[in-house]
Amino acid sequence: MSETELTMEPSEEFLFQHKGIYFQSHFVTPEYIDSLEDFEIRDSDVFVVTYPKSGTVWTQNILSLIHHEGHRDGTENVQTVDRVPWLEYNIHNIDYVHRPSPRLFTTHLPYYLVPRDLRNRRAKVIYVARNPKDVVVSYFHFSSLSVLLETIPDFNIFLERFLAGKVLAGSWLDHVRGWYTHRDDFNILFLTYEEMKKDLRGTVLKICRFLGKQLNEKELDTVVENATFDKMKTDPRANYNSMEGNLLERGKGHFLRKGIVGDWKNTMTVAQSERFDNVFKEKMKDLSSTFTWDINDDI
Ligand code: A3P
Repeated sequence: MSETELTMEPSEEFLFQHKGIYFQSHFVTPEYIDSLEDFEIRDSDVFVVTYPKSGTVWTQNILSLIHHEGHRDGTENVQTVDRVPWLEYNIHNIDYVHRPSPRLFTTHLPYYLVPRDLRNRRAKVIYVARNPKDVVVSYFHFSSLSVLLETIPDFNIFLERFLAGKVLAGSWLDHVRGWYTHRDDFNILFLTYEEMKKDLRGTVLKICRFLGKQLNEKELDTVVENATFDKMKTDPRANYNSMEGNLLERGKGHFLRKGIVGDWKNTMTVAQSERFDNVFKEKMKDLSSTFTWDINDDI
């Protein structure tokens, strides 16, 4: 086998393929993924759905702050990952079935693998998308930071794997397109990372309206303040630093890395950007009315 073939295939130590996408090998089995089809949904459940590196932790934190006063006013010290846990990666063995309502969940699942009841517009889904060029750059850095992902020192190889969907959660394009084209099956709010950056307060209000949650001005201010990049970076509940050892390699960097729009320009060469455009731009045309970025934008 040539070196190129070797490096294009994800290592089985970290990922396995199931029903068209890749899952993390340490925490989940194909049988568990299949069992989620029957996972019982309540109307009051709320799901954050993302492709990795699109603003998941940010949105988890916002949801947590909207729902839990104790979290908002700092009187409760519960990790965001336990407030809004992963459906498919139940790393802390939380009893989801007996959890009080409203249950908040996070998932990277494609639309066709989520619990059956979530379709037919039961429960609420908040889908967050981000300019895929920033996603691939963030993902590249994260893969050398996470103990759960294979370190790929060469950005070119990472880029090729990303474009081929050979990364955790599979193809970015399939993920976004799948959720977007099946949007009528779900009670879903689409957000972008870029609009969250541009108008955090407006986004929080939008989420509150979608959830039917009324916060007074002071509560709203507190949510916004605690959801800024700088605040989250120093908030141990929100920044995943406590996951060192389980998720992050100690001392290698931070989960909250830069938190900016357009960082891809600092990493990608012109040739890499063109390669990306060749694969994605044409295929993304029909999505552009919802996801307002042009992939060459830095807003
Ligand atoms: P960068 O690596 O570009 O900095 P996810 O949670 O889906 O894995 O996404 C992680 C990305 O979201 C990281 O991007 C991280 O810095 C960014 N992020 C997390 N919280 C944020 C915040 N409050 N404001 C802006 N970006 C944030």
